[in-house]
Amino acid sequence: MTKAFIVGHPVRHSRSPLIHGYWLKQHGISGSYERIDVEPVNFGKFLETFHERGFAGGNVTIPHKEAAFAGVARRTERAERLGAVNTLWIEKGVLWGDNTDVAGFMANLDLSLGTGWDQDVDTALVLGAGGAARGIVAGLQDRPLRRILVANRTLSKAQDLVHGLAGYGPAKLEALAWEDLDRAIPGSQLIVNTTSLGMTGQPPLTLDLAGAPGRAIVTDIVYAPLRTPLLATAEARGLRTVDGLGMLLHQAVPGFERWFGIRPEVTPELRALIVADIGG
Ligand code: ATR
Repeated sequence: MTKAFIVGHPVRHSRSPLIHGYWLKQHGISGSYERIDVEPVNFGKFLETFHERGFAGGNVTIPHKEAAFAGVARRTERAERLGAVNTLWIEKGVLWGDNTDVAGFMANLDLSLGTGWDQDVDTALVLGAGGAARGIVAGLQDRPLRRILVANRTLSKAQDLVHGLAGYGPAKLEALAWEDLDRAIPGSQLIVNTTSLGMTGQPPLTLDLAGAPGRAIVTDIVYAPLRTPLLATAEARGLRTVDGLGMLLHQAVPGFERWFGIRPEVTPELRALIVADIGG
């Protein structure tokens, strides 16, 4: 029986066990995917011992993604660029780390909008400058965009992000002050919220989308609620919208494939299962 885990602190709210549990059942695999709560002081020890405890690998969530990056022996190019690891596995006795958040975000856009959507995007506007924003900017850097603007309440963090990722792709990266956000909307064909604004219990993200380009795409990584105030505003304007649940589902695919040997599918049934759990 193959065992995998999600390690975090706290980890009880994670929906990953539901996703992997669905795939295990769907494919009739005798395996498990368990939540493991590990405090930061014990994370190094956890990395060293999970294999002897019978685990093939697992996912890493807050607050361990940077420690996992530092603790693995080998990393994928993606993880290397981001400085954060969310997926672990052992290959020929060597501990590997990958970052699948990027692939999850991009797969969600490609499948929701159809490949080629990026041909219509000259400028992307990314809101926020945390770990999620880093991954998304890195994903967008692999596409033929001309400009990526990163707006953040704390401008210095946007500047750090831009500095850290500069030079990887064709797009010009620019940090933008939060006050200048509304002015950037008319020139942005893709708008991505990576902040926690709009999440259940948080204030909404209020953007003036009146001047947004008619075919603009608005996407949110917040998925609880599924239809955030930002997406509702965008829909009312007739813009194209992509919700955040697909990213969560697609980021799980590479890990499952590594541990259990089958590339799983993001089915409508799986999506419905998580939507029911969110209560949307
Ligand atoms: P993650 O790793 O998931 O991206 P994070 O590192 O905590 O999470 O980042 C949260 C993001 O939401 C940050 O960009 C944060 O802005 P600051 O860097 O200025 O803190 C943003 N954010 C959180 N609350 C916000 C608010 N009320 N208004 C604007 N931005 C907010």
